[in-house]
Amino acid sequence: MYYSDDFLDEVRMNSDIVDVISSYVKLKRNGNGYVGLCPFHSEKTPSFHVTPSKQMYYCFGCHDGGSVFTFIQKIENFNFPEAVEFLAKRANMSLPEESNNQKLKQESGIRDQILEINKLAGLYFYNILKSEKGSRGLKYLTDRGLTKETIVSFGLGLSDRYKDDLYRYLKSKGYSDDIISQSGLVKIKESGALDYFWDRVMFPIFNERGNVIAFGGRIMGKGEPKYLNSPETKAFNKRRNLFALNIAKKSKRGNIILCEGYMDVISLHQAGFDNAVASLGTAFTPEQASLIKRYADVVYTSYDSDGAGQSATLKAIDLLRDAGIKSRVIDLKPYKDPDEFIKGEGNESFERRMENARNGFFFVLDVKRNNLNLSDPDEKTEFDNYVCMRLGTIEDVVERENYTSATCKEYGLDERTIREKLSNIGPELQKQKIAKQQREERIVLDRERRNKLSLMDELQNLLITAIVDDASIYTAVSKYISVDDFEGDLYKKIAGIVFEQAKEGNVNAARIIDSISDDEERTAVSGMFNTNALGDGDIEVRQKAITDYVIGIKTKSLEKEIGEVKDFSEIIKLEQTMDEIKKIKNIF
Ligand code: UTP
Ligand code: MN
Repeated sequence: MYYSDDFLDEVRMNSDIVDVISSYVKLKRNGNGYVGLCPFHSEKTPSFHVTPSKQMYYCFGCHDGGSVFTFIQKIENFNFPEAVEFLAKRANMSLPEESNNQKLKQESGIRDQILEINKLAGLYFYNILKSEKGSRGLKYLTDRGLTKETIVSFGLGLSDRYKDDLYRYLKSKGYSDDIISQSGLVKIKESGALDYFWDRVMFPIFNERGNVIAFGGRIMGKGEPKYLNSPETKAFNKRRNLFALNIAKKSKRGNIILCEGYMDVISLHQAGFDNAVASLGTAFTPEQASLIKRYADVVYTSYDSDGAGQSATLKAIDLLRDAGIKSRVIDLKPYKDPDEFIKGEGNESFERRMENARNGFFFVLDVKRNNLNLSDPDEKTEFDNYVCMRLGTIEDVVERENYTSATCKEYGLDERTIREKLSNIGPELQKQKIAKQQREERIVLDRERRNKLSLMDELQNLLITAIVDDASIYTAVSKYISVDDFEGDLYKKIAGIVFEQAKEGNVNAARIIDSISDDEERTAVSGMFNTNALGDGDIEVRQKAITDYVIGIKTKSLEKEIGEVKDFSEIIKLEQTMDEIKKIKNIF
């Protein structure tokens, strides 16, 4: 921990978790807390809970949880000190002086070191491109129409033909084999080190804050693979980042253009469309959709005009809609992709294509219609049903009304028939859809739980949560349970801290969470603090439940002890205690 606990407490006190999270997630009141759609995984029914009394969030879908600091780290892609600074600034607090920050730098984590390495590597590639050795790469890029300014502003570079020059360079900067290998830029084997990229033009990938998190490398000419992308590392999650979003988020255009490739994005930016982004060598993800949602409500898709591009467009439209973003589809025909379009027709023509972009909702129906023969009554019925199904997925009533009228006009459908059908199947379909989602989410949830938690862990979680929620039960619990009764090192450690604080009358859950630096441990502890089977039940129900947890844990612990003890009379004593424990009706 680089900042003093007092300082962290103060930042935490000035950063109410509901307040902070509300600016990223739409929260609704629910019992003693709030719920919303989890920003860290894709879901349609809210399982993301924020509890003001604990100053914690927890998602029952993906089991991600933590304090306000954890949240900011995750959503902003910050490390811990960065999250502290961010929240301190937000609360108009000044940071403690330099000496602390110095220490902070020395102890910077793995992710920070990878970012440093990436930055060095980016500069290294960039300098090769500028040097004599780089003429081949420069020619490749300028032949593709890129200007010097574009090359500089995207920080493009070139990887050399030697197989370990980057490795040697990074070693000369004092990095260990371990961290170099974790950066994904070099593969270190027994036979030696091998640079991941060589003889490729290099596209650095920046996160929103302008750190280099990864690279894409294109072969100059023909060959496989055409593009090579950095593997995922502690600093790079390809599902959660978009190429050029660091620039596009500052665009004044007010919307985002979504394309497939690095070169598409770069061509568009050069032509004045500084709002273009691309996903990173994978299909568009829900995480990327919610990332975009922070900057724009409308996305223009500009995928390749082939069949693969069309199905990617259809998927993107639904993902965007689920994130609350409207889509427009740009028609690039007869060109293959935006890069070629810009080269062929220029920016004004592209601007016109944007103006004429097809509304995403209609685009989906167009595709369906084009695959059907509407003069055949069966296929016409299929189309009408499909239309109703799509209309039925529009949640907002006014919006559904407007789309219904517009769709009937657009496709020459009989409005009365469609409305009648819609009123029958619309809500029904909605219900079915939601029920199905809930079923699926529950199954995943149960499975994860079963996989992860033994009965003992479940009981331990429940008891710890109960004490975190209400420290006053500690007195009764402590008559039977001590830290030694817990199973597992992490449980013992956390139970120790929780008991210690409960004795004083109050548990500061967020503070405990923030004292844990290991990601996996923090997730586990978030689970321990948010295993709520009690709901807001009445006092008797609560007391009975807590009594059950205590009996369960104590019995397990005694069983274990009995197994370990050799002395027969000792065993008899323990057996007696166990019998008594099992008979307890209420510990309060
Ligand atoms: P495309 O094959 O459509 O290439 O891949 P492109 O963008 O037109 O590339 P140029 O114009 O030939 O240079 C689109 C995107 O898919 C990913 C890359 O992100 C690429 O920009 N991709 C493609 C890979 O990751 N690996 C590959 O081998 C090919
Ligand atoms: Mn291309």
